[in-house]
Amino acid sequence: MSDNGFSRRTFLKGASIAAAVTGGPAAAGELARARGPRTLAPGLHALALTVNGTRHELKAEPRTTLLDALRDTLDLTGTKKICDRGACGGCTVLLDGEPINACLTLAFDAEGREVKTIEGLAQGDALHPVQAAFVHCDAMQCGFCTPGFVMSAVACLARHATPSRETIAKELSGNLCRCGTYGRVIEAVERAAKPAQGAPR
Ligand code: FES
Ligand code: FES
Repeated sequence: MSDNGFSRRTFLKGASIAAAVTGGPAAAGELARARGPRTLAPGLHALALTVNGTRHELKAEPRTTLLDALRDTLDLTGTKKICDRGACGGCTVLLDGEPINACLTLAFDAEGREVKTIEGLAQGDALHPVQAAFVHCDAMQCGFCTPGFVMSAVACLARHATPSRETIAKELSGNLCRCGTYGRVIEAVERAAKPAQGAPR
């Protein structure tokens, strides 16, 4: 044990975690790539996350997922933890505009990037056109999967101004609904894509 309180063994364990922090293939950001691997020992470390345009300074362990940081530390519980293993899409958020599974992304990999969650879509009392379309089309039953579907739909419409039903189904294929509301979800995304029926996205 060294006199600063952690041993060589502890440091080596931390270094292997650091490799995971910076090594996620889809989740590692430009900033992480530019600055190269960082070494983080186990325990809490300072972390700055920009979520829905607001910078938050918090502390997190190297192993903390973005999902847990959002829900447990920032109290942004609109992003749902369902499978916690990348199978359901319930935790979908946008990272620099791209949909990702927050349960598969380490919080430190989101540092220096823009995170958008379901809480960041509405403007005051005005729902985002995708949210309004989901309400209009009654595109939910229990609603637990809905935030993830809405975030994937927002990403879909950013890529495709007027997507076909097949394109919508493909773009939302990472989201599962145990209640089977798929038909209405597709209707809602089609409705949100019609410029006459919603404010500009
Ligand atoms: S909770 Fe992340 S994919 Fe299911
Ligand atoms: S509305 Fe219940 S899981 Fe999708």
